[in-house]
Amino acid sequence: MAQSETPPSPDGTKRRDLLATGTLVLGCAGACALSVPFLNSLKNPAATPLSDNTLEVDLSTLTPGQNMTVQWRDWPIFIQRRTSQMLAALQGPAHIATLRDADSKILQQPKDATNWHRSVRPEYGVLVGICTHLGCVPTFEKPGSAPEAKGGYFCPCHGSHFDAAGRVVQRAPAPYNLPVPPVTFLSDTKIRIGHSAGDPGFSMSDIQQI
Ligand code: FES
Repeated sequence: MAQSETPPSPDGTKRRDLLATGTLVLGCAGACALSVPFLNSLKNPAATPLSDNTLEVDLSTLTPGQNMTVQWRDWPIFIQRRTSQMLAALQGPAHIATLRDADSKILQQPKDATNWHRSVRPEYGVLVGICTHLGCVPTFEKPGSAPEAKGGYFCPCHGSHFDAAGRVVQRAPAPYNLPVPPVTFLSDTKIRIGHSAGDPGFSMSDIQQI
């Protein structure tokens, strides 16, 4: 059963969207609030908003192992380019055994991202950067920056860990994997966020929790 039964608002968001945003503003001030300055800081020259509420993003400057953040709707969106080591880490049986929903059984992503890498193409990950616990913005753990850093995300508010595919570890406060937005590849280095060619009927309001 969905955590929130409140019907989507006219713009397609659920009550939890507002809860998350409110928590961010109230609980993460100075660290991760979705305030106007914070959202302005997400303005990325690689991202071009379109009139249909989709966002085109140029990936050509993203190097392997790097993560960039753009803004789509009112959400930070993480885009990571994965190395072969990151992809191997996602598939390790010992790692998979630590995850709460390793197979993405809970609807936190479109159908074309319901796979082991939770993305349209394995070499790129696209995730909504809002923790499914109380809505803080996790930080990227750049591969090699620390012995345990494998390109996942860490939420500084209450310590939830997510792997590079946004899958939450067991016993973390966050109950669900990070949401995956609808994504379409326009070319090898350009994506559109907000529409899924592989799951055209998908809507963010379908997601269990954001
Ligand atoms: S808000 Fe992320 S762990 Fe609590």
